[in-house]
Amino acid sequence: MPALPARRLRGALIGCGYFAQNHLHAWHQIDGVDIVALCDADPARLAASAARFGINRTYGSAEALLDAESLDFVDIATTVESHLHLVTLAARAKVACICQKPFAQSMEDARTMVATCLDAGVMLMVHENFRWQAPIMAVREAVRHGEIGTPFWGRVSFRSAYDVFSGQPYLATSERFILQDLGIHIIDIARCLFGEVSTLSASTLRVNPHICGEDVATLLMTHTSGMSSVVDCSYATLLPEERFPQTLIEIDGSEGTLRLDAGYRMTVHRRHGATRVVAVDPPLHPWAQRPWHNIQDSVVNIQAHWVDCLRSGTAPQTSGHDNLCTFALLEAAYASAAANQASQRI
Ligand SMILES: NC(=O)c1ccc[n+]([C@@H]2O[C@H](COP(=O)([O-])OP(=O)(O)OC[C@H]3O[C@@H](n4cnc5c(N)ncnc54)[C@H](O)[C@@H]3O)[C@@H](O)[C@H]2O)c1
Repeated sequence: MPALPARRLRGALIGCGYFAQNHLHAWHQIDGVDIVALCDADPARLAASAARFGINRTYGSAEALLDAESLDFVDIATTVESHLHLVTLAARAKVACICQKPFAQSMEDARTMVATCLDAGVMLMVHENFRWQAPIMAVREAVRHGEIGTPFWGRVSFRSAYDVFSGQPYLATSERFILQDLGIHIIDIARCLFGEVSTLSASTLRVNPHICGEDVATLLMTHTSGMSSVVDCSYATLLPEERFPQTLIEIDGSEGTLRLDAGYRMTVHRRHGATRVVAVDPPLHPWAQRPWHNIQDSVVNIQAHWVDCLRSGTAPQTSGHDNLCTFALLEAAYASAAANQASQRI
């Protein structure tokens, strides 16, 4: 993609809901970029965000926004059912776009969005922010620098009983829940740490009787490198200390082991007994709140990465094209879980 000239970038946010508030705080913090306009189909939400962030150019539809504004990018922070429509509109207007996860409602829609943006010559990034969490980046760096040699086994784990439904009520009524909403992040972390996946088997369960979708999922994967990994997620796990929203990691390598434990502590142990324990706490931005600060910081990091990519014309780490691989694993996990549930018990 062509690089953008060195001037302040002009962006607009589409979808001023629950999570978009984090996007807006993060944009405010990033140098060289302005959110010049807001769009939401809900006038009350639109007005509330406009007042909170002092943005007075507001639109009730993306069509009206794209007609009226001259933009370098749109940041789409709506729920999944609108993504295909909104990304298509942005591409037609030759405007680069960020699209929140989950990227699409189907693999076909995901492929269509990638192809449409490619044909239009506009950059597309999926807002896959978990790999941008400070503790996850510390793990990535340790593995990349060969601190534990060649990884041969890994586990990426997210287990909690946090009430996500009060902030995001649609999660309780969605037919697909934990894998689509949260598991997709955990799968992306596994891809980012361990490489592409060659085989996958999954099982899912609904423990909470008051929701429609699955709230527990376990995936066993083999990677093209030959290593195996486990991805496990739960919103039904009652622990003595709630860990939300921490992702815990275990990696065994040819030269040692790495553990990312609760409380943002990373332990790297090497052959012959050398052990390094590091605090990898995320920063608490002035606008952030515990325990969300880890996720909020990752929003700053991924959006700063987007600005770098737009300026330099290089593909984002989680471009639409890259995210097709994460999305394919999500679809494979649902298919495997359905097949496992249908298979005979031993
Ligand atoms: N990456 C993360 O860590 C993270 C965390 C939470 C939510 N999310 C994702 O963010 C997305 C939004 O979630 P939310 O909880 O903020 O949802 P929400 O329902 O609170 O907000 C969505 C907003 O988009 C608006 N909207 C929907 N369709 C629109 C359209 N076509 N044009 C204009 N406005 C439209 C709605 O009116 C609403 O205000 C979801 O895809 C969710 O999965 C990501």
